[in-house]
Amino acid sequence: MLIRIRKASDPKASEIASKDAILNRRAFMQAAAAASGVALLPMFANDARAGMKIENVMKTKWGAEEKPTTLKGISSYNNFYEFGTGKEDPAANAHTLKPEPWTVEIAGAAKNTGKFAYEDVIKGNQLEERIYRMRCVEAWSMVIPWVGVPLASIIKKAEPSSNAKYVRFETLVDPKTMPGQRSRALDWPYVEGLRMDEAMHPLTILAVGIHGEVLPNQCGAPIRLVVPWKYGFKSIKSIVKIEFVEKEPVNTWQDQAASEYGFYSNVNPNRDHPRWSQKKERRLTGEGGLAALFAPSIDTMMFNGYAEEVAGLYSGMDLQKNF
Ligand code: MTE
Repeated sequence: MLIRIRKASDPKASEIASKDAILNRRAFMQAAAAASGVALLPMFANDARAGMKIENVMKTKWGAEEKPTTLKGISSYNNFYEFGTGKEDPAANAHTLKPEPWTVEIAGAAKNTGKFAYEDVIKGNQLEERIYRMRCVEAWSMVIPWVGVPLASIIKKAEPSSNAKYVRFETLVDPKTMPGQRSRALDWPYVEGLRMDEAMHPLTILAVGIHGEVLPNQCGAPIRLVVPWKYGFKSIKSIVKIEFVEKEPVNTWQDQAASEYGFYSNVNPNRDHPRWSQKKERRLTGEGGLAALFAPSIDTMMFNGYAEEVAGLYSGMDLQKNF
């Protein structure tokens, strides 16, 4: 990714609801969940959450044949510029992130908008494990057993209006706990967007865990987007805002370098990045150290191998132009 020296303007303050309100809602949630037997995520502050198991996760058919990358591999080679621009920086620095309490604002063209404790956002959904192939624009890939819920069910609860053509996502802005935001490597907040039909697609999930455990901070705790047929940069981390909008949102990397990163970001081996080929990828297994340099190089598949499920979303579109 490119790093741009940012023009001067202060980042937005984060929008956090009052702690008491969230704690009250959590106490209510815990009581309600205990009564109903619905899966409840363990609730721990800061990196004390590390390693916490998530209960009542339903296995799915997705990726059952794949060999997942180890948790260590997945959580030690990341892009999360809020904690530094190097791939090892997030693992070293993200312990300062406070994923609890966490508030997500649902905003824009929808009936049920407002600020919600994140536990309330996913409430009532069966947590699922889905093992997805993930492909990054720099040509590395991993196989990740996500724990999450379909984004579609959260969107349905919000009851978007007919003006909601796209969904726009924002990451937390909090330079106190996100040291990378003091450097202005990017224009904060990190922003991503999906077309409404992409957001509603059954493959699209909001993830809250990996390998059966709560998301490590560096992987986007407590809640992040996962869209497996798109390049990794679509997977916005540590989401605090989900907004229904009429116009196509400009995402962070498009804003940084529009000639290199588009809105669609679909994995497409037939369209070179201006500075490199997209035809091959190195699959990181996380075994024997990261071994990134020696990982086997394999052919990259159209839509990252999910063409059967998603190609129809783009029929009639020129995917050389809409990259
Ligand atoms: N989300 C935020 N908030 N900040 C980031 O820097 N990086 C993106 C994406 N989501 C990023 C982000 C990029 S470039 C990639 S490749 C993926 O996160 C990597 O996800 P992973 O570290 O879980 O593999």
